[in-house]
Amino acid sequence: MLPVVADVTRDVAAGPPAEFVASAQPLRDPFARSINYLRVSVTDRCNFACTYCVPDDGVNHKTRADLCTFEELERIVGVFAALGVRRLRLTGGEPTVRAGFVDLVARLRRVPGIDELVMTTNGHRLAELAGPLVAAGLAGANVSLDTLDATRFAELTSGGDLVRVIAGIDAARAAGIEVKLNAVALAGINDGEIAALCAFAWQRGLVMRFIEHMPLSSGALYAPARELAAATIRAAVVDAFGALEPSAAERGIAGPARYWRLAAQPAHELGIISAMTEHFCAACNRVRITADGQLHACLGHDDAVNLRDVVRRGGSDDDLRRAIAWSVEGKREGHEFQRTGGGAPTKHMIAMGG
Ligand code: GTP
Ligand code: 5AD
Ligand code: SF4
Repeated sequence: MLPVVADVTRDVAAGPPAEFVASAQPLRDPFARSINYLRVSVTDRCNFACTYCVPDDGVNHKTRADLCTFEELERIVGVFAALGVRRLRLTGGEPTVRAGFVDLVARLRRVPGIDELVMTTNGHRLAELAGPLVAAGLAGANVSLDTLDATRFAELTSGGDLVRVIAGIDAARAAGIEVKLNAVALAGINDGEIAALCAFAWQRGLVMRFIEHMPLSSGALYAPARELAAATIRAAVVDAFGALEPSAAERGIAGPARYWRLAAQPAHELGIISAMTEHFCAACNRVRITADGQLHACLGHDDAVNLRDVVRRGGSDDDLRRAIAWSVEGKREGHEFQRTGGGAPTKHMIAMGG
């Protein structure tokens, strides 16, 4: 059977029309990609304001009443799990600033069908929360670490404390959380630290990942001159440590990161997330919801359908299933990030969580 090609003219936000019949269970998009991974942003607020993430004039934050309650999130995640989602990543803003975050982890971890619950964090609260989070069922944390220079760190994050974040990383490791480190790679900012960041991660037995900056916020924070391409990052690693080879089995997780390891020391691994120069959309396995319940099938487009509204209108689980299928069946083949001019989604990374 030919794949159904996404109808880009559909009004995703309007939700499924009465005649819409959801075709796939478990979730499959028009390009035959299985969706088994859900990212849930639990807040659009953050205790940092990274210069590459938060526009200078800030963003309009959602009110508390806009946010999905824990009950609403549990219900929505339950429907995704029934549709085949197995891995859940909690994001923000900064997820740990959401009141009751540890309880939320425990609740979502118990949703039948969810095999793994992980989060993405700036690490600011990890030292105090690592133990309780493990007890609540958290398995992994991707922690942002863009620089090892404390002054640059404070500038880039608008006040973040590098020493505290490193203590958080070490506390998470000690508590048994699987940690990966994320650095947004920016020419003229941290391009001189590629080798040092790798060495920092590898000393701790961690994977270092570099992320090409993506133009969200209508391109407002994106500077083409700051682009640090995946190939340049690999060249810097090879220069410092010798040859790289693809890392076996891509760590078992489909998704945006491509993994490499030192040919001479295979335990030393890095990942590169290269939305701009080496596209990975063909391997996409995920969708994401914002803290106010908007389901975005692709990070690179503004299309969204609001699942919270389905719940608050008194919708049934079947209504939620239809809204989810409507979104997934409209998932685009890939992002169309462009370095200048149009082509950037208007949405903000701080509200999407990646
Ligand atoms: P795992 O592979 O499960 O470790 O997670 P991840 O790498 O997807 O999660 P993380 O939150 O650490 O995100 C790292 C970077 O990948 C961030 O810059 C995200 O915005 C980006 N990212 C995650 N998913 C997507 C996606 O579907 N499309 C694009 N373009 N970028 C993504
Ligand atoms: N492009 C790529 N990655 C980004 N992040 C924040 N903004 C951007 C962007 N515009 C990163 C954060 C964190 C992850 C969720 O996304 O540093 O590691
Ligand atoms: Fe906060 Fe993460 Fe955005 Fe930095 S990248 S401002 S830590 S949400």
